[in-house]
Amino acid sequence: MSPRHFLNTQDWSRSGLDDLLARAAQFKRSPLGDQLRGRSIALVFFNPSMRTRTSFELGAFQLGGHAVVLQPGKDAWPIEFDTGVVMDGEAEEHIAEVARVLGRYADLVGVRAFPRFADWSVDREDRVLRAFAKFSPVPVINMETITHPCQELAHVMALQEHFLGREPGSSPEQVLRGKKYVLTWTYHPKPLNTAVANSALAIATRMGMDVTLLCPTSEYVLDARYMDWAARNVAESGGSLSVSHDPDSAYAGADVVYAKSWGALPYFGNWEAEKAIRERHRHFIVDERKMALTRGAVFSHCLPLRRNVKASDAVMDSPQCIAIDEAENRLHVQKAVMSALVR
Ligand code: CP
Repeated sequence: MSPRHFLNTQDWSRSGLDDLLARAAQFKRSPLGDQLRGRSIALVFFNPSMRTRTSFELGAFQLGGHAVVLQPGKDAWPIEFDTGVVMDGEAEEHIAEVARVLGRYADLVGVRAFPRFADWSVDREDRVLRAFAKFSPVPVINMETITHPCQELAHVMALQEHFLGREPGSSPEQVLRGKKYVLTWTYHPKPLNTAVANSALAIATRMGMDVTLLCPTSEYVLDARYMDWAARNVAESGGSLSVSHDPDSAYAGADVVYAKSWGALPYFGNWEAEKAIRERHRHFIVDERKMALTRGAVFSHCLPLRRNVKASDAVMDSPQCIAIDEAENRLHVQKAVMSALVR
């Protein structure tokens, strides 16, 4: 049986994820349906979005449902998440009421809540998402907190499509097995969320790929929880996991290059000190020279992406780049997740 919520892919069985991907592929072939007729989803955004908001809203519409977008602190009341507190600060209502009330109106709730970037020991608890899941009477979907499971499925779907095009005799479940996958950190002027990197590591190892985490120094290695997930996945799926700080050797022979920037966890709340390190690693940009070291690798990124900072124009505009396919797949994946969870 599948979990009640979609908080992380790691909570789901491999066959459950394969079913979601097959359902998404079916929606890609046949986009309209009535799976959500008369149903609704409340999309709670604590942070900005382009792709996630658009694909959830239009995905619900295309299946006959309706989406309501709420931005607490902007067009909805600020919410308190701590328990047992005297609420004499900014928050006007408590998650215990918010989640229960939304569950009386909507059939599903989506939540986007990025870290606050001050104290990783606090952010790693994912307390906003956990609180929604605890109090919500209806299924909750993670729209990106400290992981980004919808992005994971869209990414895998795009990779499966790409490699099935080259290996038509293979199956979606098997085609990624043994592929050499490089998750590369890239420079960005600001420290960003580790969510997509955590997710990429989790899903790439889950699919049985040989995964290299390429990052500037050991300080950029991801949180132990996600390294442990990856190690467990490797043991179960037969792939591999290694960490590299050398771009040329990591890119050599790669089949997939996936790029993301993130802030180094030991510097949470002390970003000026981290800035000096990241500035020394601008050369981690994905460019034609590095891509030429690969085995004709496919390139992708979750978007948004700063051109000529994270990846060069030539890479983004090359036939190897499947970032737009991955972004499109968000629509199909979201429909798969919503239709699978709605009761
Ligand atoms: N990739 C992604 O989640 O995009 P948005 O931040 O625009 O939603």
